[in-house]
Amino acid sequence: MSATRPYFGANWKMHKGPSAARAFVHAFRGLHPPSADRTVVFFPPALSIPAFLEERGDRTDLGVGVQDVHQAAEGAHTGAVSASMAADAGATWGLAGHSERRREFGDDDALVSAKVLRLLEAGLRPVLCVGETLEQREAGRLEDVLRRQLRAVLDRLADEDRSRLVIAYEPVWAIGTGRTASPQDAADAHALVRAELAERVGEARATEAVVIYGGSVKPENVQELLAMPGIDGALVGGASLEPEAFARICAAGSPA
Ligand code: PGA
Repeated sequence: MSATRPYFGANWKMHKGPSAARAFVHAFRGLHPPSADRTVVFFPPALSIPAFLEERGDRTDLGVGVQDVHQAAEGAHTGAVSASMAADAGATWGLAGHSERRREFGDDDALVSAKVLRLLEAGLRPVLCVGETLEQREAGRLEDVLRRQLRAVLDRLADEDRSRLVIAYEPVWAIGTGRTASPQDAADAHALVRAELAERVGEARATEAVVIYGGSVKPENVQELLAMPGIDGALVGGASLEPEAFARICAAGSPA
């Protein structure tokens, strides 16, 4: 089962405690009507998930996910959040492998795959983030890096779970920098992701898979990214913090 395309994710990172999350949802509900032809998922800080859900009320079309989970099911891991707790709190999605986690917290491929397994075990749908640094891109290693990051996870999953993943291609040099990959560069990387998926799940399911782009997506550039073949949506950081900007992004691809 794949998510409805287009797919828009709001990665709030370490922004918006419970009150700010509530205020956002209140405003966003008025700006973005329920629509069955797209998936919209918010990734608030874990502490803000209950407030988000309360304010969401009957707007169950606004999905909620957790930004990170610990690789263990439970235990003595001060400060950490488990996948089953996130599910219990009402999350239905989970990010794994975000480049900020890889860089700041040492989430390497093995850890990322362990976290994806935990998310699946708890019944959460993983959004696996992959992407190259500028140095890797300039050294001609884009394909290698994407393949390594994808294989580390795909090789550990059963077939049906592979189809439950959403993949976010996020070039590290485009995250929070205001520098977006050109639509063509993004589409080329998406084609690499899909080719790797095809090797693992077959051509038909790879075509169905949801592969989204992240890195300085804004209302001004989302349309041209979405117009490229194989780009099924966006994972948005900075521009998802403003209800109006994110509502404009989520309207992309709609009939005018
Ligand atoms: P950005 O972040 O939109 O601020 O570049 C994207 C992300 O990190 O998912």
